[in-house]
Amino acid sequence: MKKLFEKGTIGNCRLKNRVVMTAMTTGNAGKNGQPTEQLVRYYEERAKGGVGLIVTEIFRVNEEHGVAIGNQLSALDVNNLPSLARMVARIHSYGTKIFAQLHHGGSTNVPAMNGGKLYAPSAIPNVSGIVPEPLTLEQIEELKQQFIMTAVMCKAADFDGVELHCAHGYLLCEFLSASSNQRTDQYGGSLENRCRLPIEILHGIKAACGADFPVMVRFSVDEYDPDHEGSITLEEGIEIAKRFEAAGADALDVSCGNYFSKYGENIEPYSYSQGWRKANSKAVKEAVKVPVIAINTIKEPEVAEQLLEEGCCDFVGVGRGHIADPAWVRKAQTGRSGEIRKCIGCLYCFETLTSAGYVRCSVNAQAGREACLAEPVNNGDGRKIAVVGGGPAGMQAASLLGRRGFDVTLYEKEAQLGGALNLADKTAPYKVKLTWLKDTLAGEVERAGVKVRLGEEATVETVAAGRPEAVFLAAGAAPVRPALPGLDGANVVQAHDVVAGKAKVSGRVVVIGAGLTGLETAKMISGEVESLAIVDMVPQLGAGMYPGIFVDIMRQLAAVSPTLLPGHKLEGVGDGVVRLTRLEDGAAVELPADWVVLAMGQKPDSAAVAAFDAAFDRVVVLGENRRVPGRIATSLSDAYIAAFAFDPEA
Ligand SMILES: Cc1cc2nc3c(=O)[nH]c(=O)nc-3n(C[C@H](O)[C@H](O)[C@H](O)COP(=O)(O)O)c2cc1C
Ligand code: SF4
Repeated sequence: MKKLFEKGTIGNCRLKNRVVMTAMTTGNAGKNGQPTEQLVRYYEERAKGGVGLIVTEIFRVNEEHGVAIGNQLSALDVNNLPSLARMVARIHSYGTKIFAQLHHGGSTNVPAMNGGKLYAPSAIPNVSGIVPEPLTLEQIEELKQQFIMTAVMCKAADFDGVELHCAHGYLLCEFLSASSNQRTDQYGGSLENRCRLPIEILHGIKAACGADFPVMVRFSVDEYDPDHEGSITLEEGIEIAKRFEAAGADALDVSCGNYFSKYGENIEPYSYSQGWRKANSKAVKEAVKVPVIAINTIKEPEVAEQLLEEGCCDFVGVGRGHIADPAWVRKAQTGRSGEIRKCIGCLYCFETLTSAGYVRCSVNAQAGREACLAEPVNNGDGRKIAVVGGGPAGMQAASLLGRRGFDVTLYEKEAQLGGALNLADKTAPYKVKLTWLKDTLAGEVERAGVKVRLGEEATVETVAAGRPEAVFLAAGAAPVRPALPGLDGANVVQAHDVVAGKAKVSGRVVVIGAGLTGLETAKMISGEVESLAIVDMVPQLGAGMYPGIFVDIMRQLAAVSPTLLPGHKLEGVGDGVVRLTRLEDGAAVELPADWVVLAMGQKPDSAAVAAFDAAFDRVVVLGENRRVPGRIATSLSDAYIAAFAFDPEA
């Protein structure tokens, strides 16, 4: 991987390699916009991990109507400068450079955080139907000065440069896009006018901070938003790129999509392949001379290298890859790509950010908790621990306990490690990302010196024979099969068995349960069956799923036009029919069915928990034995925290 580790420059800023960690909001700033110790530790880990440039999460530039989230960075208060400068110094100590991202959310902001009002270029309803007020010329002038002032403050705090956020449907993108900008003054209409505000800000920053202070521009070269007339297409995006270059931008950070479009191309779900949008950055690179940074749903360093070799960009943007594994670059550089905990594209990070206000990661329990989950203490001292269950929770607990110096034996009843991951990765080719996770966890188990006993059912007796001081129990759960008429028939099968290839369905198929398992299974069989119906008791399909993932699966399912029956309760299965009750009015409904696939959730093995609890002093319950429905995120983080916190002396 020669190109990835070449030095590069953005303006006068020299970077030690070609990897840029793109801006990702964490919600870890302090109440007044200052960096907290947690936030600094988060960035410090990524700098330690070898990345050339970190672009910070969004800084607000306006306190009245520019607040995008709680706990957002701000440089407007001079009192924040010392802590910002300390953060920058800690990043610099690893040879990594850092730019601040300057942002205003426009109509995507939340009124409650902004004095009840939203502002945008034009009075066009946002996704929630709220109509923003068009900014007056005086407000535009004031905002321009606030962007410039924030850049001045960031320079004073020793940042190496700034990035103007003109992407994803936020305020400056709303000015650029004819779909959101219907102004008739000098800031609307022609492309020149729509580019005017960001370009005036760019000129203003250069004038105030000096021509040699790097200013990078992030923009959506294609909004992928055909539903909104006038949205930016690649052709216009390239013209925008040329205008930014002519205006003095030192680099262009090529993103895409916006928050108005349905499919979230700017932060793609797992079905998108690596490099799917490389033609965008290549087209920009061919049109400009300044460096081009390309985000491309990159998970593997080898793909990043390939993009550089193909001339698709000068720098590769790796966003979520850095949440998932802060040492992404270091591992790639030292020939350990296989050890990277790769991002699986599940969007849990964005889900937690938007629902809880802080970022968590499915595959990295430390993400967003760097300040409290630092290096684990090595005090296992060869004490014996048994881990029952070789799924994600069991593998995570076993490897961390092994790293802590315990003598760990991991029992798995199947012939291979992986547990539920062995099934989940079968539903579609792009689910190979779960195979990566399984392989990485298994590699960690091996490197931690864990003794693995495969193909062995761990009973209280077999485990007790090893005389462990504690048992970590992560033996999984069994699929639910309600006691209803006909459900014991040969044509009623569990989704897990369909996915595992143990059951084959055909003809008219009804899937009961429209959570992630039901929908993924439906998608998997959709090409092979005569007709497909999906039923759930709750009034909305995809309950509990992150909307971005749900929309993505439904888009793929739409191709086979399944019959969708939310709000219907299963009553039983008869001869060639599934019997349901429509909950709205109690009406009986019969659906023709040759096969019925159950995806009705999991039931923890409470008998196993009780048996181990009775036999051992210390039992730590994990995975689906601890909570259902199981999610990779909660399984791995529960296991990590339990193994991290386990006190052998207690
Ligand atoms: C949790 C999260 C927060 C994000 N916050 C920002 C942000 O503050 N500014 C921004 O320009 N992009 C933001 N993004 C988008 C990323 O910078 C990046 O463009 C996107 O995740 C796609 O790249 P990736 O596949 O390498 O992650 C965010 C993405 C995630 C997952
Ligand atoms: S939560 Fe999922 S999408 Fe986000 S960084 Fe982690 S693995 Fe990737």
